[in-house]
Amino acid sequence: TIEGIVAREILDSRGNPTVEVEVGLDDGTVARAAVPSGASTGAFEAIELRDGDKDRYNGKGVEKAVANIEDRIVDQLVGYEASEQRLIDQKMLDIDGTDDKSELGANAILGVSLAVAKAAANSAELSLFRYLGGPHAHLLPVPMMNILNGGAHADSNVDVQEFMIAPIGAPSFREALRSGAEVYHALKSVLKKKGLATGLGDEGGFAPDLPTNSTALDLIAEAVEKAGYRVGTDIVFALDVAATEFFSDGVYTFEGGTKTADEMTAYYHKLADDYPIVSIEDPLSEDDWSGWAGLTASVGERIQIVGDDLFVTNPQRIARGIAEQTANAVLVKVNQIGSLTETFEAVDMAHRAGFKCMMSHRSGETEDTTIADLAVATGCGQIKTGAPARSDRVAKYNQLLRIEEELADAARYAGTSAFPRYRS
Ligand code: PGA
Ligand code: ZN
Repeated sequence: TIEGIVAREILDSRGNPTVEVEVGLDDGTVARAAVPSGASTGAFEAIELRDGDKDRYNGKGVEKAVANIEDRIVDQLVGYEASEQRLIDQKMLDIDGTDDKSELGANAILGVSLAVAKAAANSAELSLFRYLGGPHAHLLPVPMMNILNGGAHADSNVDVQEFMIAPIGAPSFREALRSGAEVYHALKSVLKKKGLATGLGDEGGFAPDLPTNSTALDLIAEAVEKAGYRVGTDIVFALDVAATEFFSDGVYTFEGGTKTADEMTAYYHKLADDYPIVSIEDPLSEDDWSGWAGLTASVGERIQIVGDDLFVTNPQRIARGIAEQTANAVLVKVNQIGSLTETFEAVDMAHRAGFKCMMSHRSGETEDTTIADLAVATGCGQIKTGAPARSDRVAKYNQLLRIEEELADAARYAGTSAFPRYRS
């Protein structure tokens, strides 16, 4: 039974404030959760409440969200069983009363929602992934490791926001992570040797200036081989283009010119001919539903097309995407929708329609590792949580190592099964 809830303002990985929540139960259990924050946010995301007081943290303080928890949520939730997740989340949605959670703030609601789940798991003496996923949860996700950062996450000239490696050929999550870390180090020496910058972007990947976007893939391919792995079998590639960021007035400003949706589609086909690309996220802008449908139809079985800004983990937008076949996968970010219940609804809806799901961090993160457990609980088979470096990113990968260890012989690594559509 929930006895008390405490909220506070803490810092995220970019040095911006975010919300942390602690939930205490009458059996002495206490659990803590922290809320992540994006930079290339979708226009249709739930509202992250910021104070707007320029005298504190350039207006980014979250004291209002903290106050909303303490003044408007706590009293309403004390006395609930922590295991009544759906009732608790619904109660907060009712108090908020808006479609976009702008009254209480999605950051306030999500912090409580996640901390309640963790408290319930602790009280039941279960790991979070088992509590949320049940006795059959056993699938370790492919880590989509973002080792070269561009777009809004870096100060470089690279348009594509994320260049990820996916070690689908590894036998276990542990070995997948090792190969990713080895490629990461090899990439650093490749960049150094070529006189390119080895400074990092927001998600821990390198952020050099490069002549073209495909140069990044050439450098990564070189690093994969240097680390002793085979490009296209051991390790394949994935992109998050975050195209909304460079779309305006109906055109995409890309590699110094302008492109239509059709031209971008042709570009992606060429890229997938030249490199083993299994997944492309946000290839087009968040409003370009018809462009997305055309691209998805044209790639057929070949490439996973992932909606992030397009879907914003919102069941209503995902339903439209399913009806119009605008993608074949959903990026899942807990703070885009703002409660655990709705996150599960989004995943269930996607899976029932044959869409894949990729669990995801935000570019602004904390030491909270909930998404690692969520990836296993939902059996989604894919997680992206940045480079295999920097504690805000590796905290999640390290949690997956613990989960794999706990599952022991019952663990199965998603590997190539995460991309059954992919043919090299
Ligand atoms: P964001 O970036 O957290 O800054 O939105 C991550 C992504 O676009 O997937
Ligand atoms: Zn994205």
